[in-house]
Amino acid sequence: MKKYIPAILVLITLLGFVHVTFAQRTVTEQQLKASPGAVTNNSNISASRKTRLMDLLLADCGSCHGMTMKGGLGPSLLAVDLKNKSDAMLFYTIREGRKNTPMPPWKPFMNDDEIRWMVKQLRQQTWKKELNEND
Ligand code: HEC
Repeated sequence: MKKYIPAILVLITLLGFVHVTFAQRTVTEQQLKASPGAVTNNSNISASRKTRLMDLLLADCGSCHGMTMKGGLGPSLLAVDLKNKSDAMLFYTIREGRKNTPMPPWKPFMNDDEIRWMVKQLRQQTWKKELNEND
């Protein structure tokens, strides 16, 4: 039995390496996927630009997705309905639009940081506050 101990130790060490390698790869893939839409602190967007973007969200996005984002021509953009959708997917959909659907690309009007900010507003439903103030 004793003679197997070194072999078992080698095996355990190898398994450890395999585990670490795969665990690292998973993290890297997740980071890659998340990075395009990853929510940043957006500190480089001015307050006046944020007001403008919020108007755009309520008026333009709202014209298709519903005044209260519950859906219309486009699907609901309520946080609860976006819960299982990735930041990256939302980011790309807003940035590039969806071909052969009415969803237009917004990259002519918003830079990447602004699109990330938009995704954050949808997730946090900050636009709700604006609606109440305007009521
Ligand atoms: C002219 C109508 C129209 C406007 C304006 C519009 N959308 Fe859309 N949007 C759509 C439609 C239609 C879809 C669904 C496309 C499809 O069938 O895949 C969609 C899809 C989406 C999706 C993907 C939702 C999901 O569950 O997959 C997001 C996110 C989105 N829009 C955000 C926005 C934002 C943010 C704005 C404003 C900057 C906006 N849209 C403006 C019509 C519009």
